[in-house]
Amino acid sequence: LPLQKATALTHAFIARLVQPRDTFAHKGNFGHALLIAGNTGKMGAALLAAKACLRSGAGLVTVQALADTFTIVQVAIPEAMCVARNAEIAYEKYTAIGIGPGLGTDTISSKLVNKVLNNATQPLVLDADALNIIAANHLLEHIPSNAIITPHAIEFDRLFGNHHNDAERWLTAIEASTKYPFVIVLKGHHTLIAQHGKAWYNTTGNAGMAKGGSGDVLTGIITALLAQRYTLEHTAILGVYLHGLAGDLMLTNEAMESVLPTDLIAHIGKAYL
Ligand code: APR
Ligand code: MG
Repeated sequence: LPLQKATALTHAFIARLVQPRDTFAHKGNFGHALLIAGNTGKMGAALLAAKACLRSGAGLVTVQALADTFTIVQVAIPEAMCVARNAEIAYEKYTAIGIGPGLGTDTISSKLVNKVLNNATQPLVLDADALNIIAANHLLEHIPSNAIITPHAIEFDRLFGNHHNDAERWLTAIEASTKYPFVIVLKGHHTLIAQHGKAWYNTTGNAGMAKGGSGDVLTGIITALLAQRYTLEHTAILGVYLHGLAGDLMLTNEAMESVLPTDLIAHIGKAYL
């Protein structure tokens, strides 16, 4: 990787970004996050994102899901609310929106992604199937400036064209961040964060996180930070670092083989400290 093109994230730098929670705070101070995630057979992605979002400080979390999957969300996460996927929901009431994990790429999901890109004015996280829909429909130019995209290598290639390796992807990501207004989080062992030609790379995280669901946890964390009104830049940096640190902390009594994205969520609290 061309590490010299980016700045390494250090603990000292990250620690300064975390905002203390006001003693007199109420939930409204920490925002209402909307997660548009999950589909039949992929509700785990929605649960991981929603749980991670709640564990990262959001005041309220609502999942926009298919009505016949509400029970799954409500039983697994009593703190989360649900709103129907076909409902004409008022997006204005949400402080931040995360869309994509386990969403599917069917017509209803495509319409939702288009609706969010065209109508949402609050900060957005675009991940997984939201990015696949954006790539398939050539909507890159329609991603608003207050968005963070979180592609893994394959999703990144669908958006920006094929690459031979991660080194090439880094160069494309940094270049693309000068052309497009949104923040690019290119996930990998050293996740790269690029905005306006400036780049950082992550120094936390490990191969125990190489399991389906780890990315969904990141989407939840980042959506929570946006809901708490961290800037896009601070959200991406802090979210990626905390996610990896939770991944490192979950190895205390476990092997990389045995840990699950659920354990990642359980260690977000320790990562914050
Ligand atoms: N070192 C450090 N971090 C790692 C490592 C590693 N070796 N492996 C994975 N990670 C981290 C990445 O940095 C990223 O934050 O775990 C996360 C993995 O995210 P994704 O690649 O998006 O995987 P995930 O979302 O969990 O996969 C589930 O969703 O995005 C779709 O197509 C994807 O089918 C997949 C599904
Ligand atoms: Mg993913």
